[in-house]
Amino acid sequence: MSLKEYLAAQTKLVERALDRWAPAEDTPPQTIHRAMRYSLFAGGKRLRPILCMEAARSVSAAVEGVENVACVLEMIHTYSLIHDDLPALDNDDLRRGRPTCHKVFGEAMAILAGDALLTLAFEVLAKTDAIDDARRARLAAELASASGTAGGMIGGQVNDLEGEGKTPDPVLLESIHRAKTGALLRASLRMGAIYAGATPEQYDALSRFGEHIGLAFQIVDDVLDVERSSEELGKTAGKDAAQRKITFPAVYGLEASHRMAERERLRAQDALDGLGARAARLRELADLIVYRTA
Ligand code: IPE
Ligand code: IPE
Ligand code: MG
Ligand code: MG
Ligand code: MG
Repeated sequence: MSLKEYLAAQTKLVERALDRWAPAEDTPPQTIHRAMRYSLFAGGKRLRPILCMEAARSVSAAVEGVENVACVLEMIHTYSLIHDDLPALDNDDLRRGRPTCHKVFGEAMAILAGDALLTLAFEVLAKTDAIDDARRARLAAELASASGTAGGMIGGQVNDLEGEGKTPDPVLLESIHRAKTGALLRASLRMGAIYAGATPEQYDALSRFGEHIGLAFQIVDDVLDVERSSEELGKTAGKDAAQRKITFPAVYGLEASHRMAERERLRAQDALDGLGARAARLRELADLIVYRTA
């Protein structure tokens, strides 16, 4: 199967799971369910759930139902995007090629839609019956800490916002990126590993892979913000410079940023050495993350 066909099939699997778990639009109160679904089904790349499922498959062939766990990463990610776009944060009008959630449903409903997706993610984890309680607890702990304040997504968002207008500093830069984006990406790999019952060595390898592609992912996000148009990205280009964000291009320039993303891609692939042929798709996903154009 070509990479393109593989991605289409994986996306379908994730979207079916999301559709099963997200309350229907006609479930009262309808406004919130419409807002949640508006952002969930706006056509994201679904990279986090795909990485999660692929990490599980790199460990074991028997991972039925992994899409239920994988799709909670997309719920958290979509919540983080809805809130990231709010006027109080990045104040963005465009996301995934459409007006942002708060532009369509208003700020109050967008805040609540984010809250609801966050809550739903943990409800789904709690209700996933394909795994034992010990693994379920580990999954919940990993997801919560990756989304949380100390080294997790929220913590990274805090540093990102407080960093606006400050002198671009390499140490602060790396800690922002590892937290705001890297933690959830690494959790995607870890959760796949936990679901599949990975050995400590396999878990460690997938974790290291996740750490490197997590950093690469946000370097590339920063570069694309400079090099691509809003039409290509489906979100407002050039925003980081306008808001004086601490980014890789701001600290190192574009050329060095490209080189650093490439270095992280190679490090990520090296981390997979012990997993052999089963990790072939993960290697391709690392290429995709670094060579993507949106
Ligand atoms: C964008 O993430 C936000 C960041 C964490 C940098 P993605 O580029 O994965 O966005 P979608 O899900 O494909 O829209
Ligand atoms: C957002 O980073 C990371 C999140 C936790 C959502 P950005 O602010 O750079 O993401 P985009 O560029 O708006 O997608
Ligand atoms: Mg932001
Ligand atoms: Mg933003
Ligand atoms: Mg960005």
